[in-house]
Parts: sequence; structure tokens; C-alpha cells
Amino acid sequence: MNTDELRRSVMAALASISHPGSGKDLIAGGHVQNLEVDENGVARFQFLLRPDDPTDLVKQVRTTVEVLDGITEVKLKVDLPQMAPAGGGGRQGGLKPGSVPAPTPKPGVLPDVRHVVAVSSGKGGVGKSMVAANLAAAVAGTGQRVGLLDADIYGPNIPLMFGVEKRPNVSGEKGNELIEPLEAHGVRLMSLGFLLDKEQPAIMRGPLISGVLKQFLQQVDWGQLDLLVVDMPPGTGDAQLSLVQTIDLDGAVMVTTPQDVSTGDVRRGVKMFERVNTRVLGIVENMSGLACPHCNEVVNVFGSGGGEALATEMELAFLGRIPLDPAVAQAGDSGAPTVVSAPNSSAAEALDGIANKVLDTVSVLRA
Ligand SMILES: Nc1ncnc2c1ncn2[C@@H]1O[C@H](COP(=O)(O)OP(=O)(O)O)[C@@H](O)[C@H]1O
Ligand SMILES: [Mg+2]
Repeated sequence: MNTDELRRSVMAALASISHPGSGKDLIAGGHVQNLEVDENGVARFQFLLRPDDPTDLVKQVRTTVEVLDGITEVKLKVDLPQMAPAGGGGRQGGLKPGSVPAPTPKPGVLPDVRHVVAVSSGKGGVGKSMVAANLAAAVAGTGQRVGLLDADIYGPNIPLMFGVEKRPNVSGEKGNELIEPLEAHGVRLMSLGFLLDKEQPAIMRGPLISGVLKQFLQQVDWGQLDLLVVDMPPGTGDAQLSLVQTIDLDGAVMVTTPQDVSTGDVRRGVKMFERVNTRVLGIVENMSGLACPHCNEVVNVFGSGGGEALATEMELAFLGRIPLDPAVAQAGDSGAPTVVSAPNSSAAEALDGIANKVLDTVSVLRA
């Protein structure tokens, strides 16, 4: 089969799947864009996934194309359809059924950012923000330009961890505003919390975020960044998914604790990233043993090693373990991440090691 015939067979296969929302087939509904098949049988296309689409849809699309005769590989890029502008009453779910999104691929949301790494977890309270904050501060300490986006809409706390509480400045004309990140410890900070009314119930935040996220991100005046760290909302819901789809991530770091390894939350988290073709850079085990405040030796309290075993089993890198360390709790109060406030603590040493591994991985991925 020549490439034209292959392309037609891919189109036909995709046209046999009907979209669960609109009922139209995926081709007629405009869900598939820029489809190409090359002479090696590699099929490339964009798949426009709405945040309320079932997450298996991408998998179904992939397997349908993969099994076709003559197709050797499927490279699909999951994208969000064009969003209605904020304030216009539009949000993702408000897209009219069957309306065809703009066919031309848009430039990335963050064109001046070299690497974007998300820090994620299956559930809250495992130290995700702590890892994100220290990763950002450790890399900034090496002289790189680093940003940190607090995208945990359920518990935004990054500004507090950096000791900044003021709201960011907004400059520029109405409709064309630029939001200035706050800066502390060499890191440029921005929080989705600034978008949100404190009184807004958490359940409202997912839909609100998916509608205005891209616009918000494009209005942040990050300048040039070597690395942007994103503190994700915990879990695998719509808010997570729409973030992953809006920001072009290099990869994600999954944080877990010895107690949470077995719950399946981490696995679900890893699967979510894989489903949308985002690499999981590796697993971090936090609260892994207790660092003695007197001698710095790590005592195994709840057991440890589960994170590493899980990483091995899921064929992921193990990025390191961080002990429970009083220096981490104190850092929270001092408004500086542990690698800054207690650089010689056990936790800081572990965090530095993790930061190095993450940097190595992303620079290999995208030089
Ligand atoms: N290794 C650690 N040692 C001591 N305290 C920790 C450690 N990791 C996290 N904590 C504390 O646990 C709480 C939850 O951490 P946080 O980063 O806010 O979790 P998440 O973002 O996953 O909800 C915070 O008070 C933090 O200071
Ligand atoms: Mg947090």
C-alpha cells in the first residue's frame, strides 16, 4: 500500500468510531487533525480531546489505528479544542456539538520555556508541593531561570511556602493584560489560586480552570525560562487532565509515600499520563523513614522501598527517597524551601539528588 492508501485506511478506521458526546464519527466531528502516514507506516495526527471525554477514547483511537495493515507506529498528539475566551460565558463544556476547532496547530502555550516538568501525586498530603518547591529552588540555585506554577487548585500553597503573600501585578491594556510572576529565592512564582475566588467551592474549580487555563498561562509574563515546574492538583480527574493537555510537558514526577504505594493511586496517576502520551520521568518516595534531628541518620519507621519496587515494576525510573525531616516542617514556617533554609539536612540532600536526576532526564529528552 502506498501512503495515500494507508492514510485512507486510517481515515476509514477512525470514521468507524463515533464520538460519545456528539454521536458524530471522529472524522466528521473534526476530532482528528493533520493526519499523515509516512513511507515507514508511521501514522501521525492530532487528536482533539475534550476534558469531559472518557479517557479511554485516546486508547481506543490508538489501538484502532495500530492494528491496521501497513501501520507500524501511531504518533498521536492529544490536544484540547480551541477554547472560548474567558468571560464570554464560554468554557470547555460550552463548545457547540460538532463545531470544528481551528485546524492549524497553534504555537505552544509557553514558547519561551525550554522544559516543563509536572509534579504529581495520587492523593494530597504526600509532599507534592514540597517536592515541587524544592525542585524549583534547587535548579534556580544552579543559576538556571526557573518558574514554578502552583496549579493545585484544591490546595494552592506555593506562594506561602516561598514566603510571598501579595497578589501579582497586572500590567497592560484591558483585554491584553500581562500578569507579573512574584519572585522569591530565585524562582518566578505564579498560582492558579490567583484566578480563583477563595469562596469558590472546590467542585467548581475544575470546570472553571479548564475554561480559562490556557488564556491565563499565556498572560503570565514568565520571560525566558529554562525550567517550569508545575505543582499539579492531586489525582486523575478532569482538572489534572486538562492541565496536562494544555501545557506541553516534558514529563511528570510522581510523588508517593511508603503507605500510599499500595493503594493504586500512583498507578492510576502513571496511567493517566501515559494515556495522554506524557512521559513519567520517575517516582519519588517521600516520608521514607525518619531523619534523626541530632545525627541525621535515617530511621525506618513505616518501612520504605515500596516506591522503588513500584518503579521497577512499572518500568519507571526511581528518582530517590526523602526522609521525614523536621527541617522540612521548619522550612514551611520560614517561607523558604528546605534546600535553601537547611541545605545540609538529610531531606535537602535527597532533594538535590532528585533535582539532578530530573534535570539529566529532561535535558536528554529535549536538548
Ligand atoms: N519529608 C518530609 N518531612 C517532614 N514533613 C514533610 C515532608 N514532606 C512533606 N512534609 C509536610 O507534610 C505536609 C504536606 O506536604 P505538601 O507538600 O503540602 O503535600 P501535598 O502538596 O502533596 O498536599 C506539609 O506540612 C509538609 O511540610
Ligand atoms: Mg500541595
